[in-house]
Amino acid sequence: MNAPPKTFHVKSFGCQMNVYDGDRMGELMAAQGLTATDDQFAADLVILNTCHIRERATDKVYSDIGRIRKESGKLGGNPMIAVAGCVAQAEGQEIVRRAKVDVVVGPQAYHNLPDLVARASRGEAALDTDMPVDMKFGYLPARRRVPPSAFLTVQEGCDKFCTYCVVPYTRGAEVSRPFAAIVDEAKALVDAGAKEITLLGQNVNAWDDDGKGLHDLIAALDRITGLARIRYTTSHPNDMADGLIAAHRYVGKLMPFLHLPVQSGSDRILKAMNRSHSRDGYLRLLDRVREARPDIALSGDFIVGFPGETEADFAETLSLVDAVGYAQAYSFKYSPRPGTPAATMADQIAPDVMDERLQRLQAALNRDQAAFNAASVGRRCAVLLERKGKLEGQLIGKSPWLQSVHLLGDAAIGDLVEVGIVEAGANSVMGERRNAPSLT
Ligand code: SAH
Ligand code: SF4
Ligand code: F3S
Repeated sequence: MNAPPKTFHVKSFGCQMNVYDGDRMGELMAAQGLTATDDQFAADLVILNTCHIRERATDKVYSDIGRIRKESGKLGGNPMIAVAGCVAQAEGQEIVRRAKVDVVVGPQAYHNLPDLVARASRGEAALDTDMPVDMKFGYLPARRRVPPSAFLTVQEGCDKFCTYCVVPYTRGAEVSRPFAAIVDEAKALVDAGAKEITLLGQNVNAWDDDGKGLHDLIAALDRITGLARIRYTTSHPNDMADGLIAAHRYVGKLMPFLHLPVQSGSDRILKAMNRSHSRDGYLRLLDRVREARPDIALSGDFIVGFPGETEADFAETLSLVDAVGYAQAYSFKYSPRPGTPAATMADQIAPDVMDERLQRLQAALNRDQAAFNAASVGRRCAVLLERKGKLEGQLIGKSPWLQSVHLLGDAAIGDLVEVGIVEAGANSVMGERRNAPSLT
């Protein structure tokens, strides 16, 4: 039994959709009269919004639960612990058994969190991992205060079943939110202070509603007064429709950035991964995107050490990286996930081989990121200021190409300022304020 909590803390561990969910859980608890606290050890209710994508992400949940109990205990507290997110979905009752948490709630059921917390306060079982047909979004409170760059989930789930991935099991089948509900939420975000909206989905470019595709949604957002920038992530190569590519040519607010994971440069491995696109198909797709928007910054995801990956396969990944020249990218060691086909495939790769390949891949990706940043020196662009830096008077924002831009000056968070890029680093660039109108 716990007394009903008065304060709460939400900790999100996963992808951007997981962060969006965490924000909305926070709004939901605040609407119940609870107060948010930044101190995880002082909260009456700690919501761990978990990620199941790799083994390490999952392990982190259990170590965190132990640490919260210990540190809160030192302060005389005994917080209610709720496990939400993709580990909750995948492990369900097992979490209650293993870690004796109070609430377990899956990513499609968190609108029921207030009820589950009330049940747990009464000492009752509180687990909900249902995937209702009726989506949760209609049950969530209105958006009130949001950062200048806000997330908006438009599509959830995945039907692709890549052989290494848990997402189709933790998030369920592909479902799109209705067009009108998304446009309403986008307007509410802008009213609450958003200047940039990133449309989110596990396969965001698979979004559809009654014949409308993602580019129609982007065109509708383009018409919202007060919204300056539109982005979307994550896209799957097979859902990159002509209309979406064309939107990069003609939609003024759509930023020149595309995150398009490829995972491997070897056709043999892509097939074993069930990616259903080839190396060549991916490269040709990027050619078309670059034709529509020549300055587009490209990003990707890679997995090294997928079962059966030979040195020759890996060399194809490196050569694909060379061919594309990514502005930034994420790379991971393959992590076998329970219940996925790849976990039981023959020829699992030894950890030291994976480490060595990851290092080589990251060296290539870092080289290209540094080159992209160096090539932007001399460019002039708008920067959306997102936060203050550590130095006196320092501001940090994003360029259209999603680079972190550091600058000194007198402006407010949420302002769009004209900047000349004057210096490049590995992970960020330095900018100087300019007053004349920008061309970008
Ligand atoms: N829907 C997106 C991304 C999903 S997860 C897509 O298809 O691209 C984000 C990234 O995590 C994936 O792109 C992949 O690179 C990585 N990932 C997924 N499962 C993994 C696993 N079992 N081991 C290592 N990395 C994995
Ligand atoms: Fe996972 Fe593949 Fe779906 Fe992406 S497309 S979420 S990697 S199954
Ligand atoms: Fe992780 Fe779930 Fe996102 S597994 S990457 S939080 S969809």
